[in-house]
Amino acid sequence: MTQSVPDIEATGRKGQRYAIRQKLWKEGAITSVVHIYANCLVTGRCKTDIDIKITMKKVVLITGASGNLGKAAVERFIAEGYHIVATVTPGKSLNFAAEQVEEVEVNLTNEVMVQDVIRRVLEKHSAIHAALLLAGGYASGNVHSTDGDTLKKMWSSNFETAYYITRPLFEHMLSQNGGRIVFVGARPALQPADGKKSLAYALSKSLLFNLAEILNAEGAEKNVVTAVIVPSTIDTPQNRAAMPKADFSRWVKPEDIANVLAFAVSSDGILREPVFKVYGKT
Ligand SMILES: NC(=O)c1ccc[n+]([C@@H]2O[C@H](COP(=O)([O-])OP(=O)(O)OC[C@H]3O[C@@H](n4cnc5c(N)ncnc54)[C@H](OP(=O)(O)O)[C@@H]3O)[C@@H](O)[C@H]2O)c1
Repeated sequence: MTQSVPDIEATGRKGQRYAIRQKLWKEGAITSVVHIYANCLVTGRCKTDIDIKITMKKVVLITGASGNLGKAAVERFIAEGYHIVATVTPGKSLNFAAEQVEEVEVNLTNEVMVQDVIRRVLEKHSAIHAALLLAGGYASGNVHSTDGDTLKKMWSSNFETAYYITRPLFEHMLSQNGGRIVFVGARPALQPADGKKSLAYALSKSLLFNLAEILNAEGAEKNVVTAVIVPSTIDTPQNRAAMPKADFSRWVKPEDIANVLAFAVSSDGILREPVFKVYGKT
């Protein structure tokens, strides 16, 4: 895991800024500072010069962070002041924002590996406030051309990647009485006229809507809300290459979706079963 990102930002009495790094925290180098401060908070009698205000950053976990939407989401949440834990495929790393993001390698279709990663992240941070589960893949094909292998591939890419990470995260969020999870659906899952051209993709994404509803039924009393964001065609280099004659200005930009993601996780209990259709002009 990358350890270069400050986990705690602190302001001294005279306005000095402190960036306390996770590495030091782990080694115990600043533990006493934090304890002294914690005592100050409780007793109100701080006689040391370590009278610092500590702001714990909220932690957001982002899957598919290396992708088109993932990059926009990472940048948006850095701007929001979150500490970002980004999953990357084993052997890969992000080629942007490396200093500001904590990367964890994991194959999201491997349930054991996912559980181990979440356990380690929670040991380190003690709380994950939000999760943007963006990893996924696409396959075209109608009922005539979609065989079982394609179905399984899409199930794995779009559902397993979200489900395995949701299980331990949801439990964690219930236990801390709060949390926000966001899945990425797709319009073909909601509109059969689109779904008939990408059957396996539509079916695999449709499960995420069902899963969100079930999680919301269970999480309602504990302030754990699962949202589904539904982009239409995203303006990505891959889509431009695949559909060169399309009017790109009608597509939705990754940055616009990232804004909706930020809203989805920031809402304070007003959203109950949110589904955000981000269709741009299509
Ligand atoms: N693009 C569109 O027009 C569109 C429209 C509607 C919905 N969506 C959905 O929006 C999401 C993001 O789309 P995008 O265009 O940003 O996709 P993208 O650029 O292809 O990125 C997909 C991301 O998912 C990761 N990923 C896939 N399988 C993984 C696995 N088993 N383990 C770990 N990571 C895995 C990829 O990592 P690696 O690169 O390392 O494999 C990559 O970071 C997807 O869920 C997609 O289905 C996209």
